[in-house]
Amino acid sequence: MKGISGFYRTKYCGDVTKHDCGKEVTLMGWVQRRRDLGGLTFIDLRDRTGICQVVFNPEIHPQAHASTHKIKAEYCIAVEGEIRLRPKDMRNPGMRTGSVELLAQRVSILNEAMTLPFVISETADVSDALRLKYRYLDLRRPSLKENIILRHRAARSVRQYLDKQGFIDIETPILTKSTPEGARDYLVPSRVSPGQFYALPQSPQLFKQLLMIAGFDRYYQIVKCFRDEDLRADRQPEFTQIDIEASFLSQAQIMDISEGLIATMFKDTIGVELPRPFFKMTYNDAIRDYGVDNPDTRFSMKLHDISDLVAESDLEVFSSVVGRGGLVKAINVKGPDNLKRKDLDSLASFISNYGAKGVIWARATEKGWQGSIAKFLTHNQISKIEERLGMEVGDIALFVADKKDVVNASLGALRVHIANKLSLVPKDTYSPVWISEFPLLEWSEEEQRLVSTHHPFTAPVEEDISLLVSAPSKIRAQAYDLVINGQEVGGGSIRIHNKSLQQQVFKVIGIGEEEAKFKFGFLLEALEYGAPPHGGIAFGFDRLVMLIAKAASLRDVIAFPKTQKAFCTLTQAPSPVDETQLAELGIKVIKKGED
Ligand code: AMO
Repeated sequence: MKGISGFYRTKYCGDVTKHDCGKEVTLMGWVQRRRDLGGLTFIDLRDRTGICQVVFNPEIHPQAHASTHKIKAEYCIAVEGEIRLRPKDMRNPGMRTGSVELLAQRVSILNEAMTLPFVISETADVSDALRLKYRYLDLRRPSLKENIILRHRAARSVRQYLDKQGFIDIETPILTKSTPEGARDYLVPSRVSPGQFYALPQSPQLFKQLLMIAGFDRYYQIVKCFRDEDLRADRQPEFTQIDIEASFLSQAQIMDISEGLIATMFKDTIGVELPRPFFKMTYNDAIRDYGVDNPDTRFSMKLHDISDLVAESDLEVFSSVVGRGGLVKAINVKGPDNLKRKDLDSLASFISNYGAKGVIWARATEKGWQGSIAKFLTHNQISKIEERLGMEVGDIALFVADKKDVVNASLGALRVHIANKLSLVPKDTYSPVWISEFPLLEWSEEEQRLVSTHHPFTAPVEEDISLLVSAPSKIRAQAYDLVINGQEVGGGSIRIHNKSLQQQVFKVIGIGEEEAKFKFGFLLEALEYGAPPHGGIAFGFDRLVMLIAKAASLRDVIAFPKTQKAFCTLTQAPSPVDETQLAELGIKVIKKGED
């Protein structure tokens, strides 16, 4: 017997068109559903390309028809027959193959299927846990399958573009040493060196710099990175980066190549032409206007600082905050169909997640301001605030007064929350923006020291280097993030390629000489062997695919994702290992609560 049970597949289900009418074809796939209608049996046959209707007619091919009695949903079958036009009233214009059907002559059951834990359907009400447990079944769902195929096309586009630009794909180790990207490491114990651990890379940062020192000039890799951090819809513990590094290029040149990459990927995958050059904004301007360094620029509703206008006001909550060096900022929610009273009442609880104590509102009406603060402000103060916010009758101003960071974070988040609630965000628009001139260092309340905003290999803006000793928090970095629709999709920088500058930066962030030598000694040494000026960027590949697929979560664009607890529901990883394995590694597990 040749082929598969004597059948050779000649076509994919989704590729059958009216041009195939009269042709003999053989399809193989899964039974989406079976219907018996007026003596005929219909099977919707599905493969990765789509669905083709197969009709079994007992009067024309009785044997084939007789075998359908055994066929149930999700059986894997092969069918041979002739393609023909469907009767006019049976055509389905909403389906790619909707004008044709396969008249079955021969059928073979290639494999049976148990009753599925859920129906393969976009609309079935199934828990996430069950979908993840049977991920291989959920991946039969067309929308999910299309996302995974879209991901493949995106990767292909990236490879083609970077290849044309002279970038070389080089693999870097997975069993390695800690890379400081700000998250916890996943550790892997060594059997041959008990008590010693590898760290899974949070990124290939140090290796790509070493590749520049090795003279590869332009490197890229579509690579897995591992970070043990709090997870959410746009964060997975293992995720994929498009990782890039190049020598002898300026920040502007790296940004230009990166822009070309992203624009090409959008064009190749979803046919969208991104407006180029991408919009550029400094970090300070982003914080000033949007409160965050990942602004969603698809809509306006900017933040306005009104501290100067209310510093002397009778409104204690405002004037005292300004007196203590805090800020009062506001957004204008355009009317008239904006926020109802109950919406306004719910804002305080939303904003409390960002540490703000409250939000004050005022509505502009024909008769002046409505809202509790109106009586504390003079006519002049009100009109100046209205002017700064561009307020008209019907608009609502929302104010937050607090420490600078709290005001920016909370009002920035509130801006997005309200825009979503009032459907102000255009759904089919992509709005890329480069954010640059980040501070090189930022104060960590948790660690009570200056830490790197990106990572410690980021070069300072040249004219700011002199501030390293006198005012390190004022130094700007040669760093840049790409943000699309409020998502940080990539970040990179020009690197320090000089050992003594690298050591100075380590010192300022509290990494002593010994620690630097232990953690990054190999890099410091390599910098002394003619390291070229270099820089690069890494894009969150999953996040980019999520954007082009218009998916709500990274899970929808990763074949086998993890849950919020970094758990793989399908394989049940992580899981205990047996004692002998632990003994070999010299590891004893201490359960929480035991000593
Ligand atoms: P960074 O840490 O900014 O830079 O990471 C680059 C991009 O990776 C994506 N990303 C993530 N995506 C999904 N899940 C996560 N847990 C996750 N963490 C990050 C983001 C981010 O913009 N080595 C540097 C790059 C460089 O300097 O060249 C780095 O890793 O989209």
